Amino acid sequence: MRIGHISDLHILDLDKPRPLRFLNKRLVGGLNLLLNRSNAHSREVVEQALHKLESLDVDHIVISGDLTNLALESEFAAAAEVVRSINGAPGRVSIVPGNHDYYTPGAARSGRFEKFFSEFLKSDLPQYQLDSGYPFCHLRDDVAIIGLNSGIATPWLFATGRVGDEELAAASRLFQDPEVRSRFKIVVVHHPLLPDENHTIQFNRRLINDDEVLEVVRTNDVDLVMHGHTHYFSILQVPKLGTPGTTYICEAGSTSMPSGNDPTMAGKFNVYHIEDSHLVEVETHLFESHEAGFVPWRSEVFRRQIAEG
Ligand SMILES: [Fe+2]
Ligand SMILES: [Fe+2]
Repeated sequence: MRIGHISDLHILDLDKPRPLRFLNKRLVGGLNLLLNRSNAHSREVVEQALHKLESLDVDHIVISGDLTNLALESEFAAAAEVVRSINGAPGRVSIVPGNHDYYTPGAARSGRFEKFFSEFLKSDLPQYQLDSGYPFCHLRDDVAIIGLNSGIATPWLFATGRVGDEELAAASRLFQDPEVRSRFKIVVVHHPLLPDENHTIQFNRRLINDDEVLEVVRTNDVDLVMHGHTHYFSILQVPKLGTPGTTYICEAGSTSMPSGNDPTMAGKFNVYHIEDSHLVEVETHLFESHEAGFVPWRSEVFRRQIAEG
């Protein structure tokens, strides 16, 4: 099984946001977009990533949030167009929202993300799903993909997240289901659960209940967590609790960034190779140029896990 992981697409409305339309938090966000992001995140780079993922023969694609910038209807429409263009969608795609998809209380309250992506939130184990649509579970061969929602509307200058208590309790019940227990378990959530060795997580950008989510993950034998939000590449390993083995916590970075001045921040995606219920390799591809597209950047092999297992 090979799973592609893209994230933080931040797809722009083709008309570009006009800040005077916004009399709330979006005013700051809209100005920021006009000054910075409209020159950065690129839909074309995302489309090149998806094209490359097809050529790499992935079985499934995960998108770990921040599909939009200001959670505008027009941005969701553009993002949905890109996502629905994936071969085999919706059955071959799992998506969770990020803080940018819950950018304002209105967007969060109206469930705009859930309306645009309702067919992607269909759960194979709906008995554990709350009315919010989470947690959902996609059972694909010997893999169970569990989607959690950490998106919340935040005040200006905040990009925090939180997985709700009820949702976390429902996820704990879901992990006990025999259909899940017998599979390789993947959790998809937008915010990171831990800082990596090179970057701290700023107070105003953190997952508020990161300790609780991490404990649920570690005590329920979760094998792999895919997240986004920081826009940095990282692979972390933490021991599971109460059972032998490792939980891998991975972020590829923002997939939609053209290379620009800092190549380490260029668009990235990961491909996870899962064999016999073990993660054996994470390969990462990086956007080089519009001509070259995405090229292999690094690969980490975890063969030892199989030898020990
Ligand atoms: Fe993001
Ligand atoms: Fe984010």
